[in-house]
Amino acid sequence: MKKIGILLSGRGSNFRAIKKAVDNDDIKNAEIAVVISNKEDAAGLAFAKEQGLDTVFINHQDFADRESYDREIVKELNSRNVDLVCLAGFMRIISPWFVEQFENRIINIHPSLLPSFPGLDAQRQAFDYGVRFTGCTVHFVDAKMDNGPVILQRVVEVKGDDTAESLAERILEQEHKAYPEAVALFCDDRLRVDGRKVKII
Ligand code: GRF
Repeated sequence: MKKIGILLSGRGSNFRAIKKAVDNDDIKNAEIAVVISNKEDAAGLAFAKEQGLDTVFINHQDFADRESYDREIVKELNSRNVDLVCLAGFMRIISPWFVEQFENRIINIHPSLLPSFPGLDAQRQAFDYGVRFTGCTVHFVDAKMDNGPVILQRVVEVKGDDTAESLAERILEQEHKAYPEAVALFCDDRLRVDGRKVKII
């Protein structure tokens, strides 16, 4: 049984997709052990509470620096024996120390085909650039932002009448498929990290 810890800051739609997949058994041998938010009013945190999940709010403003904040998060994760950390719209950069504690056990989703358009507002970056295809990437987290080994990607075509918003909506639909799929692969022990590459076995 793998224990999943979710970190989020907002809406939480990717978290919902993961939760649904756990409930449906599309992700097997897993349970959501805790949902942690740095925002008290995050919709994702409210949903987790409604679902009867264990939730924790940790305010980053209460900590002097990034690492002391991360130490608090890691304490909460370890006290529940979390195996896999899923960043699901967690709007904070995590410290190298945190990454080390969970080497190859932290996953993130980013709304572009990395390495294109890292950072904030990736859907708008892609739209403004004028690419014909974009998408989403699920990847392991390393010490650099939006950089770690790629697990899965899904492609979304940019249409002539798209706005940045309509494009973001279609990317989000694909995120909700890709993220649970990647988590299922992890929970089935089917991912092997070899340098920059992830083998699916
Ligand atoms: C998603 O677009 C995700 O790719 C990015 O942050 C957004 C989170 O959305 N990392 P939600 O909170 O999961 O709805």
